[in-house]
Amino acid sequence: MADSDRSRLSVALVDVADGRVAAFLALARDFEAMLVRKGYGTAEMIRDEAQPLRFYAVRHWTDAASAQACHADADVQALTARLFQIARVTQVVNGVGRQEPRRLLLDNQRSAVEADRRTGFDRRVKDVGRPAGNRRASKDRRLGPRRLRDRPGEVDLVGAARRARENADAAFSQFKVGAALEAADGTVFTGCNIENASYGLTICAERVAIYKALSEGHRVFTRVAIVADTASPTPPCGACRQVLWEFGGNLEIQLANLTEERGKHRLKDLFPHPFDARLL
Ligand code: THU
Repeated sequence: MADSDRSRLSVALVDVADGRVAAFLALARDFEAMLVRKGYGTAEMIRDEAQPLRFYAVRHWTDAASAQACHADADVQALTARLFQIARVTQVVNGVGRQEPRRLLLDNQRSAVEADRRTGFDRRVKDVGRPAGNRRASKDRRLGPRRLRDRPGEVDLVGAARRARENADAAFSQFKVGAALEAADGTVFTGCNIENASYGLTICAERVAIYKALSEGHRVFTRVAIVADTASPTPPCGACRQVLWEFGGNLEIQLANLTEERGKHRLKDLFPHPFDARLL
């Protein structure tokens, strides 16, 4: 497109399932035609000469607003949902105005997933707004997701996890945990552990955070902070590692206690041999 801003580019790595290349190419053509027809920009699919099942999906957006509109477009989402049924997509460059390089660390996303569980090529940039009601007087302590993309310098994930921890209901273990998960668009979702008299129904802070985010339509995540009141760091339990891996990929994990940060890890290092949809 002659008038498109060539610097506003998105690139995704697409690993197509064996035997699905023809279906994938047809889908890519439909996607490209739709982008042009709706004025969002242009798309091209480049095949990796060395790896026949690997493609590079390059999109040049007309402008930032077009990219946003494209992500929110139900027709585009329907095509994307079909794409996720036949390919693993890893975002390499996100041209929708991402400010910080860490937001591009979207490698190892959940590998093969059902269409209805992933609905965006670049995923939604969804403004979920403020929660209803006046839950807390202070802005910093308000509950619910917060959209921080426009204020990248202010993202204090550990602080958010510490505040979330205060809401933990750990009546049986007295072990309070807080988590804060950052979605790719900068929205932060917090969680705390909530215990149950049956014990087994207890849910950890990390899963509360990610389920909140998923239920709001977010599908790509960059970092999670986990806070407990312990000298040695509290890493996520096995169940949470599984869930974080499946939906968040190789997240950065920040561990902290109430006063200091106690290390950064990659989920892959904590969870080196994951079970996931590739094995199904
Ligand atoms: N817990 C979490 O919330 N996250 C973790 O990473 C470890 C454990 C909770 C579950 C339970 O309520 C309490 O901590 C003690 O295991």
